[in-house]
Amino acid sequence: MSNAYCNPDQINNPTDNPSFDQVLGMRLSRRGFMQVSVGSALAAGATVGLTGCASTGNGSSAGFTPVPLSTTDKVIVPNGYVAEVVYAWGDPVGSFKGMPTFKADGSNTAAEQALQAGMHHDGMWFFPFPLGSTNSDQGLLAVNHEYVDDGLLHPDGQATWTAEKVKKSQAAHGVSIVDMRYHQNQWNVWPSEYARRITAETPMKIAGPASGHALMKTNANPTGDQVNGTFANCANGHTPWGTYLTCEENWQDYFVTPKANALEKRYGINDKGAGYRWHEFDQRFNAAVEPNESNRFGWVVEIDPYDPNSTPVKRTALGRMGHEGAATIIAEDGRVVVYMGDDKRFEYIYKFVSRDKYDANNRAHNMTLLDHGTLYVAKFKADGSGEWIELTQGKNGLTEDKGFANQGDVVIKARQAGDVVGATPMDRPEWTTVHPHTREVFCTLTNNSERGKDGKPTADAANPRNNNLFGQIIRWKEVGGQTATKFTWNLFVQAGNPASSKPEHKGNIKGDVFGSPDGLWVDPRGLLWIQTDVSTSTLDAKEYAGMGNNQMLVADINTGMIKRFLTGPNGCEITGITMTPDMKTLFINIQHPGEPASERSDPANPLAVSAWPNGKGRPRSATVAIRRLDNGIVGS
Ligand code: FEO
Ligand code: CA
Ligand code: CA
Ligand code: CA
Repeated sequence: MSNAYCNPDQINNPTDNPSFDQVLGMRLSRRGFMQVSVGSALAAGATVGLTGCASTGNGSSAGFTPVPLSTTDKVIVPNGYVAEVVYAWGDPVGSFKGMPTFKADGSNTAAEQALQAGMHHDGMWFFPFPLGSTNSDQGLLAVNHEYVDDGLLHPDGQATWTAEKVKKSQAAHGVSIVDMRYHQNQWNVWPSEYARRITAETPMKIAGPASGHALMKTNANPTGDQVNGTFANCANGHTPWGTYLTCEENWQDYFVTPKANALEKRYGINDKGAGYRWHEFDQRFNAAVEPNESNRFGWVVEIDPYDPNSTPVKRTALGRMGHEGAATIIAEDGRVVVYMGDDKRFEYIYKFVSRDKYDANNRAHNMTLLDHGTLYVAKFKADGSGEWIELTQGKNGLTEDKGFANQGDVVIKARQAGDVVGATPMDRPEWTTVHPHTREVFCTLTNNSERGKDGKPTADAANPRNNNLFGQIIRWKEVGGQTATKFTWNLFVQAGNPASSKPEHKGNIKGDVFGSPDGLWVDPRGLLWIQTDVSTSTLDAKEYAGMGNNQMLVADINTGMIKRFLTGPNGCEITGITMTPDMKTLFINIQHPGEPASERSDPANPLAVSAWPNGKGRPRSATVAIRRLDNGIVGS
């Protein structure tokens, strides 16, 4: 943390355990739970000091010593760094007085959960406070809570099932906004009027072409312009005017329909759902009762963290899909461009270009930019060129006889619109990110074990492997500015396991091995951070045997060299990434530590896979703050 912790007299001596313990004890006393990991050797139980405190900064290439693969139940960061938990599932969001404390047996009520951090932290962003500042000591941290593990959320898991449990599950989804401050060398959530939880029950507006559309009308909202809640919030974006974009991804898992129609089928809604069991006590998730409720999910939601009384808005002009992220940049002409992946096998990559221009002096105007514009879908050609195909009603075959009578139809049925215009089916597009200097766009294509199977699309130039178990990162550059409809593209890297006996699984990584890239961010200096989401049924097993837990790496875009920066505890995914403006604190999320292959824990044995971060009770998803012990810039 501060330079004081990097005092060579005290703790740089590899054999000076008491000094390290002294520091650890002091920090433990400040916080009920936390974790310091100082390099791989310590995590493996060896004796090691805090070497590597000196700055190794060298411009845009990463300067740290990589950490090895790990199956250790800890967050491990390079020597010279410290990682600590700052916001875990169940932590109160605001004032600590009168706020419900976390109960480690899962016995907090639904009402208490609605005032605490949700589960399964995912995308997030640090908004410096106040608005317009570059404050690196205080920010409003917006954090997605993607889904829940009912085996950990309730004392007896799903053994009994009640309306109260449904309400608690809904309250554990959504978004947190917390006031995060760096004070006395410590990040903490502070009591704040800005702190709030947004859950699957929070009222929000529906704006853009789908607002008021016949397919958006329900018994509770016959005007089709309001909805309660956001959930399945996966990755994210943020806008130049200081708002947060939260992206609804696997929302279809929560709805159940007796017999799916064509639209429901195309979006993956079926007669079972994925076992969240909301429909048993909340009829809006029962499609037999509320057939249009599901159309009100699958959107990008804009939230103003600086106005705690503001109503979140679903921006339907950006299309409805399994939204992963929403990477936003101002084009050369002042319009706003948003890049988005639809994370399902064989789904598409999208781009939105606003009609109107960004105005740095008119925030209210900027808040309307995502309601009017043009949606495009990507076609990747074998010769390295590509095309953005416009998804506008009446163009490119999007006509009434095909089911597109108006633009509301196009955005609600964005996947079918992409089908009609011949978009390229991709290997599960996850995060997108725009390089702040070169304006190249990068997108993770996490994996696709179905490619080439049973009549499904076979390998193509952009998705070059059938049975693609490891994924790739694709990049493109617009030809003629960010709003262009033509681009050139190539593959930045194909992930893999060089130890695999099968050539197609080896990949072409320069540097440290990984697979299933998901989180992705080019930071302000141009380093590409890569976070992995190997599913818990595959972690360190099958073709991933020997590859350990999920991890985060850094790529030097110029050389292609990739170095491992962090490994996570058992059963987790690494996701969510943001930095303070001074780049001295990096925040990441540990999602679902302890998740078993079934994705639901046994409440009788909640620590079966992981005891992170507390070592007892239940494993907890959490935001982790990472700093250099010498107070330097992270990753340099
Ligand atoms: Fe929630 Fe596609 O990751
Ligand atoms: Ca993801
Ligand atoms: Ca993923
Ligand atoms: Ca996940």
